[in-house]
Amino acid sequence: MRYERLLGWAALLVLVLFALAPVRAQPADAVRGEYLVYAAGCINCHTDKADKGPFLAGGRAIASPYGNFYSSNITPDVETGIGAWSDTDFTRALRHGESPSGRTYYPAFPYASYSAMRRQDMLDIKAYLFAQTPVRRENRSHELRFPFSWRFSIYPWRWLFFSSTEDAPDVGTERGSYLVEVLGHCAECHTPRNIAGGLKRGKHLAGTRYGPDGHSVPNITPDSETGIGGWSEADLVFFFKTGLKPDGDDVQGSMRETIEDGLSHLTAQDLAAIAAYLKAQPAIRHAVRATRLPPAATSFDEW
Ligand code: HEC
Ligand code: HEC
Repeated sequence: MRYERLLGWAALLVLVLFALAPVRAQPADAVRGEYLVYAAGCINCHTDKADKGPFLAGGRAIASPYGNFYSSNITPDVETGIGAWSDTDFTRALRHGESPSGRTYYPAFPYASYSAMRRQDMLDIKAYLFAQTPVRRENRSHELRFPFSWRFSIYPWRWLFFSSTEDAPDVGTERGSYLVEVLGHCAECHTPRNIAGGLKRGKHLAGTRYGPDGHSVPNITPDSETGIGGWSEADLVFFFKTGLKPDGDDVQGSMRETIEDGLSHLTAQDLAAIAAYLKAQPAIRHAVRATRLPPAATSFDEW
C-alpha cells in the first residue's frame, strides 16, 4: 500500500518536472514543413512544370518587366542545390534575402514577405526540402535587361523598401494575416509596384496590370465594383479549394498554380482564415484593365 502511494508521488514528480523543464527548440518537422511549403507556394516557382522539370529543381522562368528570372535548384543536391546549406544559411536567405556567400537575391524571390516568417517554420520547411530527392541540375542565369542584369541594381530597392531583423516582426500574429501577408505572399502579385519595384502601400492588394508573365492581376480588396465585394467568404474558400469562381469561370495563369500546388492543400480552417482576412481589409476602388501585355512592355501606365 505504502509502496503504491510512493509510486504515485514519483509519477507526479516526473510530471511536474516535465512541465517545468525549459522549453527547448523543437526538432525540425518535415511533415509540418510540407504543409508550410504548400502555404508558401515554393513548389510552383521552383518546379519547371512546363518543361516537365524535376520537383523543386528550379529553372522555371518567371517573366517580369525587368526580364526573365529563373528560379534556383532547392533540392538537397550538394553541388547544384542547397544540400550543403546550414540552418543559418537557409534562414538568412528567407529572412534577409542573402546567399551563404553574401550575394543579395532579386526580389523575384519573394523574401520581402517571407522575411517575417517564424524561425521554426523556416526550419520545418528546410527539413521537408532536405527530405526530397537531390537532383543534379545547374542553375540557369537570369536574362535581365540592363541595368537590372547588374546585381547591384537591387540595392536601391533594398534601401527603400526592404528591412529585416533577426526576430520575425509582429506581422501575422493572427492566422489569416500570417497566411496572406507572410506565407502566401499574395501582395507580391496582387499589389501594384512603383518605378523602383516597391509595393504601393496605398494600393495594398488592389490589383495590377503588370502581374507575372504579362497578365493582369485582379483587385482582391472588398470593393463592391472593382474588387471581391460581391464574393462571400464561402465563395472565396470554394475558389481556393477548386479554382472555380462564383460566376462559374475557372482560374487561369499564375493563380491556377498558386491554387493547384498551394492553397488547395490547406485545411478548411486556414482557407476560412484567409477569406475572413481579405474581407476585413479596407476596400480600395481600383479598376484593373484585363488586357494581355506584350512580353516586353516598355511603358508602364501605372507609374
Ligand atoms: C515567385 C517565385 C518564387 C517563390 C514563390 C519562391 N521562390 Fe525561391 N527563388 C525564386 C527566384 C527567382 C530565386 C533566384 C533569386 C536570385 O537569383 O536572386 C529564388 C531563390 C531561392 C533560394 C536561393 C537558392 C540559391 O542557390 O542561392 C532559396 C533557398 C529559395 N529560393 C527557397 C525558397 C523557398 C523555401 C520558398 C517557399 C517558402 C521559395 N523559395 C519560394 C523564386 C521564388
Ligand atoms: C503568382 C502570382 C499570384 C499570387 C502569389 C497570388 N495570386 Fe491571386 N491571382 C493571380 C492572378 C493572375 C489572378 C487572376 C486569375 C484569373 O482571373 O483566372 C488571381 C486571382 C485571384 C482571385 C480571384 C479574383 C477575381 O476577381 O477573379 C482571388 C480571390 C485571389 N487571386 C486571391 C489570392 C490570395 C488570397 C493569394 C495569397 C494566398 C493570392 N491570390 C496569391 C495571381 C496571384
